[in-house]
Amino acid sequence: MADAKGIRSIDTVMHEERLFPPPAEFSAKARIKSLEEYEALWNQVAADPVAYWEKTGRDELHWFEPFTQTLDWQEPFAKWFVGGKTNASYNCLDKQIAEGRGDKPAILFEGEPGDTRTITYTELYKLVCKFANALKSLGVEQGDRVSIYMPMTPELVVAMLGCARIGAVHSVIFGGFSAEAIADRNNDAGAVAIITADAGWRRGKALPLKATVDEALKKSPTVKHCIVLQRVNEAVEWTEGRDHWWRHLMADASEDCPATPLDSEAPLFILYTSGSTGKPKGILHTTAGYNLWAKKTFEWVFDHRDDDVYWCTADCGWITGHSYVTYGPLSAGATCVIYEGAPDYPEKDRFWEIVEKYKVSLFYTAPTAIRAFIKWGDEHVEKHDLSSLRVLGTVGEGINPQAWMWYHETIGGERCPIVDTWWQTETGGIMMSPLPGAIATKPGSCTKPLPGVIPKIIGEDGEECGPDQGGMFTIAHPWPGMLRGIWGDEERYKDVYWSKVPGKYLAGDNSRCDRDGYYWIMGRIDDVLNVSGHRLSTIEIESALVSHPAVAEAAAVGRPHELKGEAVAVFVMLKSAAPTEALRQELKQHVRKEIGALAQPDDIRFTNSLPKTRSGKIMRRLLRDIAAGKEAVGDTSTLEDYSVLASLRQDEE
Ligand code: WT7
Repeated sequence: MADAKGIRSIDTVMHEERLFPPPAEFSAKARIKSLEEYEALWNQVAADPVAYWEKTGRDELHWFEPFTQTLDWQEPFAKWFVGGKTNASYNCLDKQIAEGRGDKPAILFEGEPGDTRTITYTELYKLVCKFANALKSLGVEQGDRVSIYMPMTPELVVAMLGCARIGAVHSVIFGGFSAEAIADRNNDAGAVAIITADAGWRRGKALPLKATVDEALKKSPTVKHCIVLQRVNEAVEWTEGRDHWWRHLMADASEDCPATPLDSEAPLFILYTSGSTGKPKGILHTTAGYNLWAKKTFEWVFDHRDDDVYWCTADCGWITGHSYVTYGPLSAGATCVIYEGAPDYPEKDRFWEIVEKYKVSLFYTAPTAIRAFIKWGDEHVEKHDLSSLRVLGTVGEGINPQAWMWYHETIGGERCPIVDTWWQTETGGIMMSPLPGAIATKPGSCTKPLPGVIPKIIGEDGEECGPDQGGMFTIAHPWPGMLRGIWGDEERYKDVYWSKVPGKYLAGDNSRCDRDGYYWIMGRIDDVLNVSGHRLSTIEIESALVSHPAVAEAAAVGRPHELKGEAVAVFVMLKSAAPTEALRQELKQHVRKEIGALAQPDDIRFTNSLPKTRSGKIMRRLLRDIAAGKEAVGDTSTLEDYSVLASLRQDEE
């Protein structure tokens, strides 16, 4: 078994046989207590999904007007809970208060510098109402798109729920994206306003946000208003009439803002993610089905109870922060820890200090973070009492068995079930995961489908694969949380997800299902990279490089990286400039400027030619091998040997 710490490869999970049954005392109290109970529920939903979701939708969301049809499926377009009227902000706030959680903390906030705030459901409700009125005062209306580019503060959640309250469609842009990326997203969505902050805290430094937005707004003609939260007290430039301080708008706004009854299928948000082409896709989620999926999956997967303290370390710039910081936990009435900053600031025990301080019981993070903790050493963990923990979750990429075992032993004290959750921006919420009281875990496997999820692994021949045969991961039946489309691009939606395997949703991952019915995700089928759990398109990085005047052609591939999972390696052909170290640094900065820090290449290698097939396709597999150091190519900084290597391996492609 090739078990080197670091990248998960097919080798590392192919022979994993260890099985960890749920602890008996956990199962006894769990929502779903046994494999039999899970299987019975899964079978019931699979046999008649519409009947199950009709009842669940009716019972678990608030309805201003009841729906008249549970599912309208005109493949590949789904409408759920047709004719009903609800509001996600109502489900997260008003409904919780009505159920007696008004004084319960909704958010326990820990700022990076150590400032803290407890915000109860009633307090959050008032903030959201005020902010919704602030948006209205600027003329923002139902259906308008609003970009959000903020640090991970409670105000980010307030901004999202404020939009949802009046039916404005939010588009959260992660704080690591560049001005160019913000402008692209503003323009694609036709955003009328953007919400930001002066800056955010990152390892003790102020990360400027308003300045980046100013830059983006030079190229965002649809954006008329910019709301600015003062988080750090950085000096900012000001455009009178366009820019508004958050606190001024809030001071003038009333606390009374009834939630707008919205159509079940009213757009709730757009979230941009990378695909296999250069242009990010605006994944569209709508109100009722998404909200229900986020709530149900949160309750199932984390076995959430009213007295739990839940902490998801994701930023709201990603789908995990949408579904499992905001909409899922709040519509389940959970108490959520939000932490603003870096895991190693001021010390490498910050996360464990927070777990101890708030007595976190449900903890959800990413494999890339776990790998960093392992590297930093157990002493940072051992300083703290982690006995409050009950369930540990991971998301974003596969977790290699070694990291899984460390999480299980060192963080979980061998007592906490680990839920390895597979899902995507497109799926809206978790699709594959152990239920912690019911399904025994195998390190590295996301185990089994949640009720309502019918996975099928399909081979290149279009046939369903047998046990242990790898193939494309697809989903056979629509589910309430599924994406409703790509903003403004119906054709691309059909093409990307529904054309290669007729009648099924194509996830874009490879997978195999073992003889026990456990699923193992084996990496992407396309040229999408997964860097620290974030999706990046190779073509997007290549386009950014080619936009630099010195570059003739570029190819980007992933290579294994101990902490990030994958690192970005690029091969660059220059027009005529000399391949200097200075130029290498300049190109890294250029990608950073075009896309953002998260896409900055780790390695840049200059080359005189790129290996191509006869039809002119870059031979990525070969480049991946070279980037991973698998090929003996001599001095890899100049790869003149490419043409030879390429012709040797041309038949492979
Ligand atoms: C892609 C989706 C889901 C929120 C964060 C990422 C990979 C995600 C797992 C997992 C193996 C995983 C897949 C997927 N992925 N979770 N538990 N095991 N792979 O969302 O940016 O939409 O990326 O992340 O490749 O397709 P995303």
